[in-house]
Amino acid sequence: IHCSPGRRRRGFVITTSCLSLQVGLLSGICLIVGTMIGSGIFVSPKAVLLETGAVGPCLCVWAACGVLATLGALCYAELGTMITKSGGEYVYLMEAYGSVTAYLYSWSTIMVLQPSAFAIIALSFAEYTSTPFYPGCTPPIVVTKCLAVVCIFLIVSVNCLSVKLASYVQNFFTAAKLLIILVIIVAGIVLLVQGNTENLSNPFEGASTSFGSIGLAFYNGLWAYDGWNQLNFITEELKNPNRNLPLAIIIGIPLVTLCYVLVNIAYFSAMTPTELLQSSAVAVTFGDRVLYPLSWVVPVFVVFSTFGAANGTLLKHTANIMLTYVAGREGHMVKILSYISLKRLTPSPALIFNGILAVFYIIPADINTLINYFSFAQWGLYGLTALALIVMRFTRKELKRPVKCPMPIAVLVVIVSCYLVLAPIIDKPELEYLYCTIFILSGLLLYFPFVHRRFSWTRRVMRPITMYLQLLMEVVPPENNE
Ligand code: ARG
Repeated sequence: IHCSPGRRRRGFVITTSCLSLQVGLLSGICLIVGTMIGSGIFVSPKAVLLETGAVGPCLCVWAACGVLATLGALCYAELGTMITKSGGEYVYLMEAYGSVTAYLYSWSTIMVLQPSAFAIIALSFAEYTSTPFYPGCTPPIVVTKCLAVVCIFLIVSVNCLSVKLASYVQNFFTAAKLLIILVIIVAGIVLLVQGNTENLSNPFEGASTSFGSIGLAFYNGLWAYDGWNQLNFITEELKNPNRNLPLAIIIGIPLVTLCYVLVNIAYFSAMTPTELLQSSAVAVTFGDRVLYPLSWVVPVFVVFSTFGAANGTLLKHTANIMLTYVAGREGHMVKILSYISLKRLTPSPALIFNGILAVFYIIPADINTLINYFSFAQWGLYGLTALALIVMRFTRKELKRPVKCPMPIAVLVVIVSCYLVLAPIIDKPELEYLYCTIFILSGLLLYFPFVHRRFSWTRRVMRPITMYLQLLMEVVPPENNE
């Protein structure tokens, strides 16, 4: 089913207009900062402290995660300015290793990474919404999970209804999250100036030396930094990308790193490490201690921040719908997922699918387990992408590289990713990592009949399903134009 040419044109205009931003340096920096800050800084500090065992290594891990994100982003800057085709990592992996790897990338992103990120943020939202109602104890799991499902339902609905509404929601919540980070930092500085420094006085006592625990600490810290590659998806809309892309990275990510380290110092100036580990929502405890009688401000704004972050993951989805379309066109993805609502011009099938998977992830798991699997799979892919840069230095010498990332940086990112993926497994082999790997690789089972050979029976199976869903949801393919 195709829509009429007029409608089709409108669909095309909407889907690309949300991309055509003409982003300058300042907006580029804001975009990086706005995407990276979300839920992580409010849920990860506890896990990072738990895994590192002491304040000193905990702060070092937070800083090191920032350095790693900056280095990763510099590798991406070379890739993004060398291959300017839409599609981000999908296109880089396709160029470097061929179709199977690119397929596995889209499979793991759509089936694992996007929905689990959505689930983690929704759970953080739920944790901060419920904690103030259960002072002094941890809220019941059923309550948190139900609230997370409500959050997912709300955000999917807003994004299915209107792209415009979703971006208004986004602007409001981005302002809220920057404000609360600033409040926490300023309150922390005031506490330090008043002399509350005893928790920072013996920072390396009791530090963990386990190989795997440090890896897990990084998983949690890196979750808070995820989104550092955001600008790569819009290199075409950046003004003067050869200058602005590396500059925005070099300014934006260290800025976030500074904020995160300062927020952690603020937490430690108000509570001892043991108190931090016992708190069910760190920022709420911080607010209760420091901002009374305005303590309510903290949970309210953290809830806004996490809601904004959850909305941001779907907005990114919306902006990336053309990229999803690229994978769909290669036959790497179920076509219906790249279709757009005829009436509302939103990518409702992809959004609803993402929401349903996120709910499935929420039912059995808790935040930290999900963060561990997310970072495990995500850093496997980041490492593979950095390796693609090295591979293409040899296989695609002819390509122009306006931004050249020094080779040692790429090598370092690859080595660190290998460590991140392997250390927790070697240290404490848990079956779940195996399941996660098997699930990602199981995508290959579908690759052979549906993508590689394209057996005619696969088309006979898929066609009526696609048509039925098209009629049910009133969706159409977007314009065939990257
Ligand atoms: N760093 C963000 C946060 O702390 C999470 C980014 C989510 N990543 C994603 N690929 N959607 O909430």
